[in-house]
Amino acid sequence: MPTLQFKGKNIIWNHHLSIPYHTLDEVEKLHFQPEKADGNLIVEGDNLLALKALLPQYAGKVKCIYIDPPYNTGNEGWVYNDNVNSPMLKDWLGKEVGKDDLTRHDKWLCMMVPRLKLLRELLADDGAIFISIDYNEEANLRLLMDEIYGEENYRNTFVTARVKKNIQENEKVRAVNFGYNSVIFYAKSDKCLIDPPLKFQKKSERWHAFDAPGIRLTMEYDLFGQRPPKGRHWMYSEDNARDMIEKGILRKNPQTGSIQYLLAASDFTLLDTNWTDIQEYATEWNFPYGEKNIELIKRIIKMFKSERNALVLDSFAGSGTTMHAVMDLNKEDGGNRKCIMIQMTEVTGAEPNKNICKDITCERVKRAIDKYGYDSGFQYFKVGIPLDAESLLSGNLPTFKQFADYVYYLCTGESLKNKSATNERSYFVGEHGNSVIYLVYKQDFDELTRMALNLTLAEKITAEHPKKKIIVYAPACFLKEDYMKERNIDYAGIPYNLFKRI
Ligand SMILES: C[S@@+](CC[C@H](N)C(=O)[O-])C[C@H]1O[C@@H](n2cnc3c(N)ncnc32)[C@H](O)[C@@H]1O
Repeated sequence: MPTLQFKGKNIIWNHHLSIPYHTLDEVEKLHFQPEKADGNLIVEGDNLLALKALLPQYAGKVKCIYIDPPYNTGNEGWVYNDNVNSPMLKDWLGKEVGKDDLTRHDKWLCMMVPRLKLLRELLADDGAIFISIDYNEEANLRLLMDEIYGEENYRNTFVTARVKKNIQENEKVRAVNFGYNSVIFYAKSDKCLIDPPLKFQKKSERWHAFDAPGIRLTMEYDLFGQRPPKGRHWMYSEDNARDMIEKGILRKNPQTGSIQYLLAASDFTLLDTNWTDIQEYATEWNFPYGEKNIELIKRIIKMFKSERNALVLDSFAGSGTTMHAVMDLNKEDGGNRKCIMIQMTEVTGAEPNKNICKDITCERVKRAIDKYGYDSGFQYFKVGIPLDAESLLSGNLPTFKQFADYVYYLCTGESLKNKSATNERSYFVGEHGNSVIYLVYKQDFDELTRMALNLTLAEKITAEHPKKKIIVYAPACFLKEDYMKERNIDYAGIPYNLFKRI
């Protein structure tokens, strides 16, 4: 398979692996109707860190991802901002990527690679990703997606109509104006089955005989001075028939004299990939963030119509159209879909208080809930501190619960299900198959330096779980190897030896 080459590709290809996990910190005062949030989250922060931080809880759980990244038009003011340890990429940092920048495609691709890889880890095996894009990067994105998601998982490209005012003078090129943009669609695997989108079709009119075989006395009455033919009855009761005559959908055929009713042909037909009946952009909220049309996102999510509890993710949330679309669809069909959105603040030296996530993303969702009466809400989280040795040793400590979630995921590759069983006082984290996991930890640096897996604790744990394999994360261990072996205890040192797996 041909692959795309670009500057920085070899540096960036596995960058997502070296990004430390971060905590996600709840910001209670920015929740909105949290009692109705039911899994809806808005996460403030760079999506590279946020996506990685979501892995412990959501890896393999997202059914539908919709993203609308910067199109790299050269005039969106986007900046390459990933802190990668390479002189070339460091040199790209913080500079706006303009149209004349000779490395603008390289920068965009280097930005997308780690995010697309993390998004793929979050997708369920039967899930899919949909990406809005325009002519600037569409060809590059297709090749990149073929490489990361697999050529065989490409399903379609939909086209949506651009509104005229979005077509800039400089794009009115030698040939024809760009009248459409694209949404490309990749599945995670061939397990992904969708409900194909349908479109409403004007009813076709077909007159059909009003009699049916069999004797049904209640459906044998005079109609236009006639009785049903022998051995047959009318299709509906007399009341219904009178009503149909009034509506003009039951008649005596003027040519043949037979009684007929108007049969509505199927209302819906399969939609193809031409979605130009949908305008890509909307202007309902007048936010200057390339607000997408909720009908576009609803049509995408409806492809998982039978999955009415589906989890939907958008990591370039902008003005929050995706959560609005999810809430609208839930209201329409009684579904219980959940939505996670990520949006960075866009803070800069010149605008230190800028916070798009709080002021635009959240604000729009709140207004939509109020305006349309959705029975919903969301919780607000912020990307917090890194969970790596350097950060822990400098005294930047997560809460017990945050750390417990993280070590459980590192240890088992799965998210902690029974969170309520986690117990800070007994250090218990959770169970997995025949194993139990403990974390000897307190969010206090001084105490932490004195904590260890000691004999008293080991005896207590083994008494509680006599036949289990026991994994204990702790800053130190005072037990002999033979004792540990005999009791089936495995020790993982904090913070250097976190990557222990069962
Ligand atoms: C094209 S807009 C999305 C518009 C959105 N679909 C809507 O309907 O409003 C892209 C958004 O992604 C955000 N963004 C870009 N890079 C990001 C990053 N690294 N982390 C989080 N958000 C990012 C930008 O701030 C911008 O708001």
